[in-house]
Amino acid sequence: MQKDPKNLVFNVNDIPRKFKVDQVCLDNYLVNGKIKRWNGPFQTVFSPIEMLKNNEIEKIEIGKYPLMDEKTAIEALDAAAYAYSNGRGIWPTMTVEERAYHVLKFVNKMIEQRDNIIKLLMWEIAKSFEDSTKEFDRTIKYIKDTINEVIDLDRNSSKFSIVDNYIAQIRRSPLGVVLSMGPYNYPLNETFTTLIPAVIMGNTVVVKPPRLGVLIYNYLIEAFQSSFPPGVINIIFGKGTEIITPIIKTGKINVLAFVGSSQSADSIRSKHPIPHRLRCVLGMDAKNPAIILKDADIGLAVKECIDGTLSFNGQRCTALKIIFVHNDIVEEFIRKFTEAVDKIKIGMPWENDVKITPIADNNRISYFSEIIKDALEKGGKIINTIGGIKGFNFFYPTVVYPVKNNMKLYWEEQFGPVIPISSFNSIDEPLEYVINSNFGQQASIFGNNADEISYLIDNLANQVCRININAQCQRGPDIFPFTGRKDSAENTLSVFDALRAFSIRSAVVTKGEENNKSIIREIISNRKSKFLSTNYIL
Ligand code: G3H
Repeated sequence: MQKDPKNLVFNVNDIPRKFKVDQVCLDNYLVNGKIKRWNGPFQTVFSPIEMLKNNEIEKIEIGKYPLMDEKTAIEALDAAAYAYSNGRGIWPTMTVEERAYHVLKFVNKMIEQRDNIIKLLMWEIAKSFEDSTKEFDRTIKYIKDTINEVIDLDRNSSKFSIVDNYIAQIRRSPLGVVLSMGPYNYPLNETFTTLIPAVIMGNTVVVKPPRLGVLIYNYLIEAFQSSFPPGVINIIFGKGTEIITPIIKTGKINVLAFVGSSQSADSIRSKHPIPHRLRCVLGMDAKNPAIILKDADIGLAVKECIDGTLSFNGQRCTALKIIFVHNDIVEEFIRKFTEAVDKIKIGMPWENDVKITPIADNNRISYFSEIIKDALEKGGKIINTIGGIKGFNFFYPTVVYPVKNNMKLYWEEQFGPVIPISSFNSIDEPLEYVINSNFGQQASIFGNNADEISYLIDNLANQVCRININAQCQRGPDIFPFTGRKDSAENTLSVFDALRAFSIRSAVVTKGEENNKSIIREIISNRKSKFLSTNYIL
């Protein structure tokens, strides 16, 4: 274990060739089907990975992206609004089969950029090679699964319902212009899990990438431009206050798809002039607890809690962010857990089996120190050997115990490698915690007693949206619903649910008189309507 972060820093000449990165000059953007050159100011991008060059520590500049202005953002919005044309544009009136064809064309082009995108994820947010690869491949799978799901949906919607002498066909139709904004910890995957369902359902989209993880778009713009009709997808870059506030204020955005902090989500949605016309699909804050019961398999709980708290430095919304352990086993758990934490591999994203890498958003490092200090002042202790060490954007995993309800670490989402542990006597104590917490995404229970586990399930089911038994919290498989209560989410995402989140049901209904039936028959057999149709994709 390297106790001095300086020893983890590579000399630029020692970076494996496969992972060396060239500077990315992202100087264009996509509006109305045209890739336009940006002539205004730029944001320089430095990697969170610091390097040694001629024996000096150096920040590595990996590229730049446009800092666009209000006028250009409005241009993008207008292009999306025109492509939608109040639901009468080419895209929203296209058949599902045709739209699926465009998405398939896009995904094939995206696959060609696999290596470039994975490498940039490693440099932009310091995600390990293994996790960056997973993020890319999982996104491709998500897109392909979405195509299959939309085809199924279309097939199921092509039938007629006959109820009480009413004949109806009920399909799902788009909502309008979607603003899609993903988070920096999953800049590709979590943007695409809203963008792709939105587009395939017939909406048009303005995409604004997160603050970190922007340069990957350098390898996607051409694929978007050549795969979709003009205006269907528009991509803009810059600061939220400059480009998001003005477009929300127009009232022309119909759906806000946002993954990030609840504070930012509130700030964006509050600027919409007619809030009830804005559907929000939000993934926000979380502080998922692990509850370790006295008969838990401690080895298993330790393993799952290591992955749950520390994968990608704990920078996952689904990460386990507080561990409650029964008093009878707390000592043994802590001993085994801290041993495992102290052995974890810390290093650069290209190193084999690395788990802890530089912190993506290095502004957060001072926050980690602040919440630890607060806990120490109130009686908590750092209980692992490497806890509290930091430097060169590394923040070593830090386990704090005992964490009590007067500490920030008990309530606040740390979103990083700081692990609070609390002990309990009665299972009602962690339950009280969940009830009083601002978050309601998921929880993990570790134990073997069916009575205790069922008591927890029944009490947690109305507090969170996924209860994991003897397993860490996570989003996948992506076919499962991903959502939350309170400050954690609004609307549900999964391959299946996202298609519903970005659409609304529209029904064509008539009474069962012969005259009406013959009108319907004529429309269907002569394929006069795209909407009222029994055609489906085989
Ligand atoms: O950051 C939140 C992600 O949706 C978590 O996804 O559980 O697959 O890491 P994950």
